[in-house]
Amino acid sequence: CIKRSGIMKTLLLSKNDIDKAAEIIKNGGVVAMPTETVYGLAADALNGEAVAKIFKAKGRPMDNPLIVHISDIRQIDMLVSEFPDKAKILAEKFWPGPLTIVLPKSNIIPNEVSAGLSTVAIRFPSHPVAHELIAKSSPIAAPSANLSGSPSPTTVRHVLSDMDGRIDAIIDGGDCDVGVESTVITLADEIPTLLRPGGITLEQLRAEIGEVKVHPAVLKSLENGMTAASPGMKYKHYSPKAKVILLRGSEQAFCEYIKANSDDKTAVLCYEEEKNSFKNNIVLGKKDDDAAHAHRLFTCLREADEKGYTCVYAHCPKPEGIGLAVYNRILRAAAFNVIDV
Ligand code: TXA
Ligand code: MG
Repeated sequence: CIKRSGIMKTLLLSKNDIDKAAEIIKNGGVVAMPTETVYGLAADALNGEAVAKIFKAKGRPMDNPLIVHISDIRQIDMLVSEFPDKAKILAEKFWPGPLTIVLPKSNIIPNEVSAGLSTVAIRFPSHPVAHELIAKSSPIAAPSANLSGSPSPTTVRHVLSDMDGRIDAIIDGGDCDVGVESTVITLADEIPTLLRPGGITLEQLRAEIGEVKVHPAVLKSLENGMTAASPGMKYKHYSPKAKVILLRGSEQAFCEYIKANSDDKTAVLCYEEEKNSFKNNIVLGKKDDDAAHAHRLFTCLREADEKGYTCVYAHCPKPEGIGLAVYNRILRAAAFNVIDV
C-alpha cells in the first residue's frame, strides 16, 4: 500500500485477485473479505502486529477478542487445546457455515486475538472467496468490517464507506447472503451457551447437542456488575446515526402510534405488505420471510442514515429461528428502546 499524508491507499480487488490479497495478508496487512454472513477485516491470526492493525482500523477496544477463521478442519488442532465431542458434532454438521465455536485456546494464539481470555473463537466460513483467501495465506482473524459500533457491512459499498483509506485492500465479493453475523456458542464451559444468535439457529444447535443455555445478554442489556461472557456484548452495537425505536404491539397499534408520532425525518422499517401505509418506508421484506429480514437489516439501517432520517420506528421481531438474531441486533441498534403500543 502507498501512504499519503498518513492516509492509506485502499486497493479494490476482485475475486480473481485472491493471490494478491493473500500476499498482503502474509506480509502483515489488512484486507476486507466477503463471507456468507457479513464482510470481515482479515489479518494473519498468528501475527499479533498484523492483528493490532485491525483494532486500529475499526477503532475497536483492545479487550474485545476476534474470531479466527479456518479453511480446513485440520487447522483446528494447532489453534485450540481441547476439541470436545460436542464441538466435533457441531463442526461436522454446520461447518463450513455461519457458526463460531469458542474453545480453550492453544499457546499459538496471540494476545491481540484472544484479548487476554483463555479461549479462542473459531469459525469455518463457507464463502468461496474467504475459503480461498485463508487457504492461500493462514488462519485469519476477522471481525466485521465496519467502524466499531456501526452496522456490519453486507455490501462492498458499506465496506468502502467505513474503511476506504484505513486498510490495504477490499475484495469485492458481491452482497453477503445471510446478512447477520455468525452464531457464537461457547463449549469452553460445562453447559454449552449461546453467546450470539446468528445464521445457525438455537433450535438447530439443540437438535444436535441437546441442552444449550442462552446467555442473558442475548436479549437484555447487561446489568452493572454482570460479566460479559463475550466481551462484544458490552459495547454499543449496530447503531446508525438515526435513533431506532422498537414498537411492540398489534399491526394496527403500530400504524396508529407512527401516524401520531412522526414527521418528515421519521422513517418506518416495515414489511412489504404494509409499505403503502407509510410515506418514508424502508422495506425489510415480506412479513413472514425472516431470512429476508436478516439479509436486509443492516442495509436498511444504513439506508436510514443515507436518506437523512433522524428517527426510525421498527417492529419487534419474533425471537425464534433466525428471528432471534434479527431481534438481538435490532434491540442493540435501538439501545434497548422498546415501546409497548
Ligand atoms: O459472521 C461473523 O462472525 C463475522 C464474519 C466476518 O466472520 N465476524 C464477526 O466478528 O462478527 P466480530 O468481531 O464483529 O464479532 C465477534 C464476536 C464479538 O462479540 C466478540 O466479543 C466475540 O465474538 N468473541 C470473540 N472471541 C471470543 C471468545 N474467545 N470468547 C467469547 N466471545 C468471543
Ligand atoms: Mg462486529
